[in-house]
Amino acid sequence: MTFTTKFTNQIDATHEAVVIGLWQDEKPSNSEIQSYLDHNKEFKGKAGQTLIIPANSTEQKKQIILGLGEQDDSSPLSFETIGGKLCESLKDNKTSDIAIELTSVLDSDLQAHLVYGFLLKSYSFTKYQAKAKKSALKTVSVITKEQDKAEKTFETLSAISQGVFLARDLVNEPPNILQPESYAEKIKEELKPIGVDVEVIDQKKLEKLGFEALLNVGKGSVIDSQVVVMKWNGNKKQKKSAAAPIAFVGKGVTFDTGGISLKPGAEMDLMKMDMGGSATVVGTMKALAARKANINAIGIVGLVENMPAGNAYRPGDIIGSLSGKTIEVLNTDAEGRLVLADILTYVQQQYKPSVIIDLATLTGAMMVALGFEYSGVFTNNNDLWSKLESASDNTGEKLWRMPLDKAYRKEVESNVADLKNLGASSYGGACTAAAFLEHFIEEGTTWAHFDIAGTAWWKTAKPTVPKGGTGVGVRALNNLLINHFEEK
Ligand code: BES
Ligand code: ZN
Ligand code: ZN
Repeated sequence: MTFTTKFTNQIDATHEAVVIGLWQDEKPSNSEIQSYLDHNKEFKGKAGQTLIIPANSTEQKKQIILGLGEQDDSSPLSFETIGGKLCESLKDNKTSDIAIELTSVLDSDLQAHLVYGFLLKSYSFTKYQAKAKKSALKTVSVITKEQDKAEKTFETLSAISQGVFLARDLVNEPPNILQPESYAEKIKEELKPIGVDVEVIDQKKLEKLGFEALLNVGKGSVIDSQVVVMKWNGNKKQKKSAAAPIAFVGKGVTFDTGGISLKPGAEMDLMKMDMGGSATVVGTMKALAARKANINAIGIVGLVENMPAGNAYRPGDIIGSLSGKTIEVLNTDAEGRLVLADILTYVQQQYKPSVIIDLATLTGAMMVALGFEYSGVFTNNNDLWSKLESASDNTGEKLWRMPLDKAYRKEVESNVADLKNLGASSYGGACTAAAFLEHFIEEGTTWAHFDIAGTAWWKTAKPTVPKGGTGVGVRALNNLLINHFEEK
C-alpha cells in the first residue's frame, strides 16, 4: 500500500474514518464512545487492540478505537508495534482516508513512531500477482498538537523506511530475475538518481584485479560475477583525502545451491535470500541518501551465483584470493566467506575505512544458535559493540554478541594451504566462519560481522515486518550512524 502521511492539528471533514488512541484505563471524552465501550467489555485498551464503531449515520464517521497499552510501558518501539497492528487490522478495509487522533499522547516522537510502525507493516511484495489485493488507503493524517516536531521525526523515519523497503524488495525478488548482472544494474538504477556514486566492477575487471576467491564461487554460473561499490559523500566539509569512511560490506549470493556440495532439495528455493546481507547494505545506502546523512560511507557488495556445473569449483580445490592467502575448499557450500574475504580485502586496500561492518546470511549454525529472533554479531571492538547494541535497541532488530577467539581462527588453518573454508569440527560453525573472515581483517581495524542467516527472511509475520525479506539491519545501522558517527 502506498499512502501519504500528514501531521495536522485539526480533523477535517473529509476523513472517512477516525482512529482514536486510548491508553489502557483511559476514559474517552466522548460519551457515545464510552457507552460503546461499556457494551464491548473485551476491549481493554491493550497495546494495538482495536475496536471498530461503525458509522451509523451519514454524518458520523466510522470510528476505530485503538488501545495504546499502559502509559508507563510506552516507548518508540511499543508505539511502532501499535501502528503495525493498526495497519494489519485495516488491511481489508475500503477506507481511503483515515485520521489518527493521538491527542492524549503528548510525546510527538511516539506519535511519529506509531505512524512509522504502520508504514513498515504496510509493505507488500505483489508485483508478480495480477490479482493482488490493492489497498484503498490513500491518506493517513495524524492529529497532533506538535505538528512540526512530529513531522521532523517522521521525515527521518520515513527516509529509513525507503531503505528497508528496498532491502525487502531485493530479498523477495526471485533468483531468475535478481542475478549478479541484473542486480548490479538495479543498484545503479536505485542509487544513482539520489546522489550515490555507484561503481560496478565486472567479471573481466575482477579477474584482472585478482578476486580469485569470489570468482571461484561464481565459476559454475552462466551469469558473470560482479562487485558493486557505492559511495555516499554526505559530509562535504571533510576533505576527501582525510576522510576515513565507515564501510558496509554485504554477501550477495543471488542463489546458493551449495555448488558441487549440493544442498538438499527441500526448501532450496529459500536460498534466493542468500543475498540478504548485500540487500541490507544497498538499503542502508539508500536510506543515507534519502535522509541526506552528514557522513561519508562506502557500501560494497559481492554478487555471485553458486551453481554446480562442469566448470564449477570443487571440494579439494586450492584457490587464491585477493589478499594473497591461499584457501583449501573443503565444501563449496561454505561460499559466503570466500566472497566476503575478497571484498573485505578490497575495501581495506582501497579505502582504509575507520570501521567495517559486514553482513551475511553466512551459516545455518547461526540459526541453530539463535533461531530467527537475534542476529549474531562478532566484533573485535567493545566500544563498537556497545554502540551497536544501543543503536539496535528500540528497532526490534535484536543483536546478540558472539565470540571471536584465536582457537576458532586456528581451526580454519589448513595443512595444505594457508586457510580452509571449514572448521576442524562441525560444531560452532558460525564462530569458525567469523574466524575465517577475521583472517582477512588487518591488525587494528575496527570490525563487526553480522550473521543474519536467521533474521533476513521470516516465514511468519511480526507486527511491523511482513513475512518474506525483512530488510534487517537497515534500521540499526542507520541508528548507529545517527547516534554515534554523523556530525550534527
Ligand atoms: N547460505 C548458507 C547459510 C544459510 C543457511 C543461510 C540457511 C540462511 C539459511 C551458507 O552459504 C551455507 O550453506 N553454509 C553452510 C556452511 C557449512 C558447509 C560449513 C551451512 O551453514 O551449512
Ligand atoms: Zn552455502
Ligand atoms: Zn550461502
